Amino acid sequence: MNQSNKPNYTLPGIEGKLRLLNEKNNEALLGGGEKRIEAQHKKGKLTARERVDLLIDEGTFQEIDKFVMHRAKDFGLDKEHYLGDGVITGYGEVNGRLVYVFSQDFTVFGGSLSETHAEKICKIMDMAMKNGAPVIGLNDSGGARIQEGVNSLGGYADIFYRNTLASGVVPQISAIMGPCAGGAVYSPAITDFILMVENTSYMFVTGPNVVKTVTQENVSAEELGGASAHSTKSGVTHFACANELACIQHIKKLLSYMPQNCEEIAPVYAYELAEDESRKELDSLIPENPNHPYDIRDAVKGIVDEDSFLEVHENFADNIVVGFARIGGRSIGVVGNQPQSMAGVLDNDASVKAARFVRTCDSFNVPLLVLVDVPGFLPGTDQEWNGIISNGAKLLYAFSEATVPRITVITRKAYGGAYDVMNSKHIGADLNFAWPTAEIAVMGAKGAAEIIFKKEIAEAKDPEAKLQEKVDEYTAKFANPYRAAHRGFIDEVIIPSETRIKLIKAFKMLENKVDKIPRKKHGNIPL
Ligand code: HXC
Repeated sequence: MNQSNKPNYTLPGIEGKLRLLNEKNNEALLGGGEKRIEAQHKKGKLTARERVDLLIDEGTFQEIDKFVMHRAKDFGLDKEHYLGDGVITGYGEVNGRLVYVFSQDFTVFGGSLSETHAEKICKIMDMAMKNGAPVIGLNDSGGARIQEGVNSLGGYADIFYRNTLASGVVPQISAIMGPCAGGAVYSPAITDFILMVENTSYMFVTGPNVVKTVTQENVSAEELGGASAHSTKSGVTHFACANELACIQHIKKLLSYMPQNCEEIAPVYAYELAEDESRKELDSLIPENPNHPYDIRDAVKGIVDEDSFLEVHENFADNIVVGFARIGGRSIGVVGNQPQSMAGVLDNDASVKAARFVRTCDSFNVPLLVLVDVPGFLPGTDQEWNGIISNGAKLLYAFSEATVPRITVITRKAYGGAYDVMNSKHIGADLNFAWPTAEIAVMGAKGAAEIIFKKEIAEAKDPEAKLQEKVDEYTAKFANPYRAAHRGFIDEVIIPSETRIKLIKAFKMLENKVDKIPRKKHGNIPL
């Protein structure tokens, strides 16, 4: 038990007062005490302060509310106080840019959230909103402070409310570095990005014991809500990090692509055009056989600045690739169908993943580059019953309402409704390019020939030869970008190796774009 409310000596004058202050500062630094710090380290976890030290530029962290204590009296809490009440809050710089941070201290009541703990978090969130800078939450908490009952629940709701108000105003990033259970998961869930640490963090609405009682499933905390489950199965987390250090480095990298708030743009890095910006390898990227896969990341790498691609949701819905990059030093968001996973088809997960990313970019003025190679939406009962109509519409809606500069490059297939959805000219893209390998049509040539020449093929002496003849005819007419280019739906058919330089120039041309959607309270995206 801590004695912070009872100063153990008093000297006269300023000397005594400074000593008392110093004593309190030292006490606050110890959180729940040496033993619990040791226990935290034994679990392979850093303390809340160590995490802040790693995140914030040296010498810039300014702590707020270091001496706050809880006001609870029940269950012996009137005799147990810790300065700071289980969360370190304040502001500082990350790579020279202002951020607000809270870091939950598991050594104090398991990092559980009391009324005062919540008030501290709300205070820095309010400051972040007023001053226009990101909020970073380092979460490590046993949830609601059980001894406080509804006061704690109210504290959570105060945070959720602010998370929602801050959404789209300042970037909010949540790192999960320990337990995060019950309703507590909903604060991170509202924020822009979640990062989890493998093997030491978990998130779930109800833990393994409740799961066992209700559904008779036997599942470990890690299986149910660890970094692996949420980065591959649910998509709840955007990043799974090998350890805490990697997680914190990832937060810093992520911030480098984002502006401080919705009124600003992301930092622009100095970039001098090289004499030759062509990328010859792109000319041979698309396989001869249109049914053969390739890795869309190779197209991304050949277009964006070297080593600048930061993939988001890397292991979830890998039939679509999303992530941040820079082109000519400017931050962009990239969305690309991935032909090497399910032929790049759009399904429920891919649609939701991409829609969320597009909205995040648009909220924070990050221009969009969309690489298209999509055979359509995935058919089947599983997809239909799980709402491919609404989910596909989310992506359509997200692109349509985005006012940031938007550029599309069709590398190969752009079939059916997916052509419209994937940032087509018709839904407001600024520039639409196509490679000569593009096939822009209602569907693939074989499927099309089988439908429109069904009778002719059936009646032919050699139906197979007839089908091939019709496939060839359809291919010649539609499996190319020129019909769309004749209509102006494609602005230019470009040589793949020149894509990078085209896009550097195009994004520069669009840097002062002003676009508005009609005045409304807010849109009604089909959630
Ligand atoms: C108060 C808590 C606490 C809590 C942990 N502690 N959780 N104190 N309220 N919610 C305290 C413990 O008493 C202990 O104190 C210290 O934190 C460390 O806890 P341990 O159990 O020793 O640690 P560990 O074995 O690592 O287990 C961690 C844990 C477990 C899995 C988080 O403590 C746990 O199950 N806690 C309860 C979780 C929970 O049910 N929370 C409420 C969820 S509902 P000492 O003094 O021994 O160090 C919820 C609703 C939110 O959060 C709703 C929002 C709308």
